[in-house]
Amino acid sequence: MKIDTICVLGAGNMGNGIAQVGACAGYNIILFDIASLQLEKAKATIQKSLTKLEEKKKLSAPASQILSAIKFTSTLTDVKTSQFVIEAATERRDLKFKLFKDLDEMMAKDVVLATNTSSISITEIASHTRRAEKVAGMHFMNPVPIMLLVEGIRGLATSDEAFSTVRTVAEKMGKTFIEAKDAPGFAVNRILMPMINEAFFALNENLASAKDIDQAMKLGCNFPMGPLELADFVGIDVCLFVCEILHRDLGDSKYRPSPLMRKYVEAGWFGRKTGRGVYTY
Ligand code: 3HC
Repeated sequence: MKIDTICVLGAGNMGNGIAQVGACAGYNIILFDIASLQLEKAKATIQKSLTKLEEKKKLSAPASQILSAIKFTSTLTDVKTSQFVIEAATERRDLKFKLFKDLDEMMAKDVVLATNTSSISITEIASHTRRAEKVAGMHFMNPVPIMLLVEGIRGLATSDEAFSTVRTVAEKMGKTFIEAKDAPGFAVNRILMPMINEAFFALNENLASAKDIDQAMKLGCNFPMGPLELADFVGIDVCLFVCEILHRDLGDSKYRPSPLMRKYVEAGWFGRKTGRGVYTY
């Protein structure tokens, strides 16, 4: 099926980034969110990012033209006009299961439904539809306009054809596509989250200060951000959620979340988005 229009479900940080790179790649985008305030914020974020990229001559069309390819909507029927869906809603199992059930009922039978989940089983999400062969993982990295990777994940039933569609869309968006198994954390978070978790254990043990732990990894290993800074950037609540899934589903105590990480989440110190995490913003 020819794909002209892509629906991105959820206008949060990941959703608005995906909408932006989709529009930059020449797709028409339907950016859907139930919250109109979220859509307004998404529009402002995309505008700011496109302006930056335009100043650096990194856009192939004027920013205003790219922005006009995105329809910001809270009307569910708009979603039906798309030929490919990328779900980027809040990382909650019940919410995603319900969304996929509804999408399955609403969308044309041949539409591929991709999910940007960072940790929920693709196979389980697909089981809430009657088109499991057309459901796949399409995991973008934050900040989406800058990060070059998309991790593709096949559920147990994902067809070669649907997976190849996901790859084609990701590559058209300028991303490098890798394939990971449908196992807890896939590839990126299976490796990244235990490192971030270990940094919280180290901080709790006063191994070094937060700033020095971050400097160690930045200057010692050439990471663009230290692990604690990155936790604040991704959201400590998101990190805890993924660590809990790794611990539960892999069943190995080495994945147990650091009590300090849990304490930050209990305090509502989620990182940049709440103004306080390991650091204060
Ligand atoms: N849109 C456009 N441009 C952007 C941008 C955006 N959203 N975000 C950053 N930039 C640009 C800046 O303007 C800047 O451009 P310049 O060099 O020409 O001035 C450049 O990117 C670098 O940004 P900054 O100067 O603000 O800061 P940094 O040099 O620290 O870079 C960063 C910021 C790109 C976020 C870098 O710190 C980085 O790569 N950090 C690691 C990010 C990472 O690991 N992401 C993956 C997280 S894991 C994940 O997402 C999976 C999930 O499931 C948890």
